[in-house]
Order: sequence, then C-alpha cells, then structure tokens
Amino acid sequence: MSGFVTLDNVALTYGGAGGTLAVDGLTMTVPKGEFTAVVGPSGCGKSTLMKLTTGLVRPSKGSVTVAGKAVDGPVSIAGMAFQNPSLLPWRKTLDNVLLPLEIVEPHRRTFRRDHSANVEKAEALLKMVGLAGFGEKFPWQLSGGMQQRSNLCRALIHQPELLMLDEPFGALDAFTREELWAVIRDLHQEKRFTVILVTHDLREAIYLADRVFVMSARPGRIIQERVIDFPRPRPRDLIYTNEFNSIVHDLRALIAEARTTA
Ligand SMILES: Nc1ncnc2c1ncn2[C@@H]1O[C@H](COP(=O)(O)OP(=O)(O)OP(=O)(O)O)[C@@H](O)[C@H]1O
Ligand SMILES: [Mg+2]
Repeated sequence: MSGFVTLDNVALTYGGAGGTLAVDGLTMTVPKGEFTAVVGPSGCGKSTLMKLTTGLVRPSKGSVTVAGKAVDGPVSIAGMAFQNPSLLPWRKTLDNVLLPLEIVEPHRRTFRRDHSANVEKAEALLKMVGLAGFGEKFPWQLSGGMQQRSNLCRALIHQPELLMLDEPFGALDAFTREELWAVIRDLHQEKRFTVILVTHDLREAIYLADRVFVMSARPGRIIQERVIDFPRPRPRDLIYTNEFNSIVHDLRALIAEARTTA
C-alpha cells in the first residue's frame, strides 16, 4: 500500500548485537494529509518510531519511506516538537521560531535575504496560536503552555509537509492542553500537513486523529489500526459523548492487555 509515510517490517536494535530490540515487525502506512496518532505502553518504541521516520536513526531491518523516498538521513520536510520545549534560552521567542529557517535547506541559503518575510511568517504563526506580541520575550518569560505554543510555531515555520509531535502536550495542565488541541486541530484543518502524534492520552488521540495506531509492548509493532471518523470540525463536547467514550474504552483495554503480554 502506498502512503505518505510507510514503515515496512522495521526492526531497530539499540546498542548493536545483544542490545535492546526496541521495535520489531513494525509496519504502518500514513496517508497524505491525515492526522494520525500513535499510542501504546510506556517504553514500547513510540519515540523510536518517530526517530526512524525522521531519519534520526536507521532501521536494523526493513524500510522507511517519506513522500515516496527511502529515508536515509534527517528528513528536511519534517517539523518536530517534543514533550519538553527545547527553546534556546538566549534567543527571543521570535528568533527561536525562526531557527529551522536558519538551519534547514533550502531556506538556509536565503535566510538573510528573506528576513522580513520570515519575520512576518513567524509573527503570523505566533498570532495563530494566541501569542501575538510575545515574539520579543525570552522563553523564560513565558509560561509552560506559551513555550509549548512557541515550540509548535518553530516546528511549523518551514511549512513542513510532515509534522511529528512526540507527547507535545504532556507537561501541561488539562485546560491548556485542551486549548492546544483546538490550536493544532485548526492548524491542520488550514494547512493540511500530515501529522504523526505520539501521546499517552487516549482522548487526545481520538479527538485529534483520523486514525489511531496502537502499539504492543516492546519490541513494538502495530497491533491495531482504528479509523476515527467523527466529522470535522469536531466540537469540544465530542469527548463527553458515549460514542467517543466507547472508543476510549476499547483502546484502553487493548493497551492494558498489551502491557501484560509483550
Ligand atoms: N538511545 C537509546 N539507547 C539505548 N536504548 C534506547 C535508546 N532509546 C530508547 N531505548 C530503549 O528502547 C525502548 C523503546 O524506547 P522509546 O523511547 O522508543 O519508547 P517510548 O514508547 O517512546 O516510551 P515512553 O512512552 O516512555 O516515551 C526502551 O526500552 C528504551 O529503553
Ligand atoms: Mg517516548
């Protein structure tokens, strides 16, 4: 099956022979423009899946493709955001957001020439996530939720075709988290990039995604692929409906079982 992201029978062992087999027989296909989520027990290989897809680590076995090309190094069309916003403390928020344009080709070559257009783009993104006017602040002058929003802007500034989010909202309180669901939902609706979101929060996965992949315990592989076909735009109250909760219930049972049967 063709897809925007494909992993075909992938295995990865950290630390060479006798090391840790993190994923094995990992096969998945993510269609272009879809919002997908990956859930599974702690330590099952979710972050490894993200590293394999973005070319930060090479599979020991099997193959990975993104946008029709075999992945053989860092994937420049991907934007990434992880659990702890790794904003550089000595750079203002705006300059943090601009960072990928400074280092990722082809933007790098024209970074100086296009400076004012770049700043405009960064400011437009900050505005979209509710941070208009905060570009001149340093990260340490922002709350955790605001840092996470800036982090998201930084992942999106080079207009990636693929957005990789690894527990990006994990450290936030429930209200801020749900606010950011709306932000990311609207950004996806507008820009139509392909998303892979790793999360421990089943409600987050089901609310945001078109498709949820459930992984087994380590060595991780996909044990269920569930299409979530609630119409969009999805209202916030969706998460209180019986239909929604029955999916949460199903996936929770599956993960509970996966934890005990590796
Ligand atoms: N750089 C590394 N070197 C050696 N082992 C590693 C490395 N990174 C991960 N592992 C091991 O590989 C396995 C999978 O790790 P991974 O980080 O992919 O899990 P995860 O599903 O993201 O976990 P969590 O839900 O806790 O974030 C774990 O057993 C982990 O200890
Ligand atoms: Mg992880």
